[in-house]
Amino acid sequence: MIELQDPPQDRPAARPLQAAIDYFATGMRGVRGFLTQGSSFALLTLLEVQRRDGIRGPITEIGTFHGKALIGFGLATLPDEAVVGVDLFVVGTEDFEASLRTNWDSVGLPLARLCLHRGSSMELGTQAWAALLAAPARLVHVDGEHTRSAAAHDLALAASFLAPGGVIVVDDVLHAWYPDITLAVAAFLEANPDFRAFAIIDREADLMRGGAKMMIARREDVPRYDEALRFCLPRSIVRRTAFAGSTPLVIAFAPDHVKRLLPLAAR
Ligand SMILES: C[S@@+](CC[C@H](N)C(=O)[O-])C[C@H]1O[C@@H](n2cnc3c(N)ncnc32)[C@H](O)[C@@H]1O
Repeated sequence: MIELQDPPQDRPAARPLQAAIDYFATGMRGVRGFLTQGSSFALLTLLEVQRRDGIRGPITEIGTFHGKALIGFGLATLPDEAVVGVDLFVVGTEDFEASLRTNWDSVGLPLARLCLHRGSSMELGTQAWAALLAAPARLVHVDGEHTRSAAAHDLALAASFLAPGGVIVVDDVLHAWYPDITLAVAAFLEANPDFRAFAIIDREADLMRGGAKMMIARREDVPRYDEALRFCLPRSIVRRTAFAGSTPLVIAFAPDHVKRLLPLAAR
């Protein structure tokens, strides 16, 4: 079982990111969606790095579904940072925008901080994307339309307005149902050598629930995330591999793996 492990020197009464830690550890289980425990702890590690290093800006997700990941992002943001979700909000006959808003509200996040764009990300150009975000994003989770053209488009949007130190996380890479997503990521990395993949989070559940994630940052920001992932997920680092010119960590979670919290200055 994955457990949270406090560094002994770091037990402030009010730990930064405590609400996000609690949500990713247990709270998210009540929200419909596709985020697995191991992936949530890898995302939490990125958010800890950003808090430690003062990396600021909105967090955005293309493909929110009911908000399983988006709520964790919301709980990790500061009051002046926006959270932006882009989705069609309709699957079949089900409209889930109200469910997302209810889930957001139920963890005590102000609805005023939730910025939702209803529509296909494919209709957003880089100018509209920048206008929607208002400031460069520090984290973009690409989890919308699972086609090569959409993944390529969403990656280009994400890279077009990314804050210094920001990260892009792409869901469902190396996925047998969506092999084109991996091609889109490889093409992006080969065309944009200033961006590098620094981690591949292996799948954790069956084919349709626990998709692998690829984590991408600008070349100069790779060391800060690489070091933190190795510190925070000590039993989960399998090896380093080669992918499209990058050498990402391969991270796979076994039942006895732990998530160590990154030491952060107390609030
Ligand atoms: C796998 S789900 C996302 C899961 C979610 N990130 C989570 O944490 O549970 C994919 C989502 O992408 C949305 N979607 C599909 N095509 C899209 C498009 N062209 N633009 C924006 N969102 C899209 C779907 O409506 C769906 O909510």
